[in-house]
Amino acid sequence: MNIWTILLAAGEGKRIGTKKQYIYWKNRPLFWHSVYKFSKNPLIKGLIFVVTRQEKDYISNELIPNLIQEDNILLPYKIVSGGATRQHSVYNGLSVLPPQCTHVLIHDSARPFLSFDLVNRIINKLKQGEWAVVPGIPVTDTIKHISSHDQKVTTLKRDELRAVQTPQGFKKDLILKAHDYALKNDIKGTDDASLVEAIGKKVTIINGENSNIKITTKEDLRYLEDREMDSTFCVGFGYDVHKYGEGKPLKLGGVTIPNAPKVIAHSDGDVVIHAIIDAILGCLAKGDIGELFPDTDDRYKNINSFILLSEVMEMARRDSFKIDHVDITIVCEKPRISPYKREMKKNIAPLLNIKNDQINIKATTEEGLGFTGELKGIKAKAVVIGRKTSFDN
Ligand code: CTP
Ligand code: MG
Repeated sequence: MNIWTILLAAGEGKRIGTKKQYIYWKNRPLFWHSVYKFSKNPLIKGLIFVVTRQEKDYISNELIPNLIQEDNILLPYKIVSGGATRQHSVYNGLSVLPPQCTHVLIHDSARPFLSFDLVNRIINKLKQGEWAVVPGIPVTDTIKHISSHDQKVTTLKRDELRAVQTPQGFKKDLILKAHDYALKNDIKGTDDASLVEAIGKKVTIINGENSNIKITTKEDLRYLEDREMDSTFCVGFGYDVHKYGEGKPLKLGGVTIPNAPKVIAHSDGDVVIHAIIDAILGCLAKGDIGELFPDTDDRYKNINSFILLSEVMEMARRDSFKIDHVDITIVCEKPRISPYKREMKKNIAPLLNIKNDQINIKATTEEGLGFTGELKGIKAKAVVIGRKTSFDN
């Protein structure tokens, strides 16, 4: 047997309002979660990605090569553009299968929760000589049929019904024939097995999985949220100093402090935001602010630190990192910080996707000691705690 998987990722996601297959979840685009499951099955010999036409160049040149490298996937693969309908997309995938391929699994990338076991069980049935194998689950609702002809309602026998899923497995010649026949005879099916049924061939249904749901509507996004429960805690610490001198007006947590000493800085010199950024990078295990935004780079000259923080929060989002709490200490002899704490919190909390009670700002002096005591500068420290979900747990 030489099995290839066709992974469908060419939908527009009209019902959900976004191309859902590219949503980042657990640090990977949604479609990649299925790829990973297939790649772990030694009987699968290659992958065909069917992707949206507009994104194809980026996906082929950057996204997939990077992910392949990151997850050490050694399978050969091809990438094709999808068509106007799911059926058309499958057809495009089938048309680039290599000659040595004998069997095909066809999977909707909008079903990221399929298990290794399900892939195994489908392949086992194909091994036993079945030509079309489809996972299905018993339906729990009573299903009514409404005649399109006279609107007459009848009730279908629930015991005899199955809600079918992907991956669906086929002998290659059979599925090619079924799709060709459907194209020539203008037969439209919402799954591939229905096209096999249309040429009168046998379809075998095996037990599907209740958890193998298809992300279809906005409400379904909660399934991605729920699964973020399997996360680990991480903590990061950040520290920053700026020197007082002939420079820029003092800005702390986005608030410009009137009548305060001025700071010397390449960026806007906001020590509070810089300390938070470093604390977040600590959680993400992604180095420090100086590596990311070097002060030798003119792009960061006078830059508003909130822009830098937004960039770091975008990295956090891609890593499925959520902040639970932030604690900040500002150390300076002057100015007095307390009148500005509330406004700082109001500025910072929304950027970190947290509420005001998940952020604390403290201020202290060093009793006239050290560089802050001598009014030579200001420092800020931040601790961030949050949760991260990793891709393959
Ligand atoms: N699909 C595809 N090509 C199409 C339409 C759909 O490859 N022309 C893929 C989708 O990417 C998805 C799977 O088929 O993985 C199942 O389709 P569906 O859940 O309907 O996704 P969308 O078509 O993207 O969503 P919608 O119907 O809401 O637009
Ligand atoms: Mg669709």
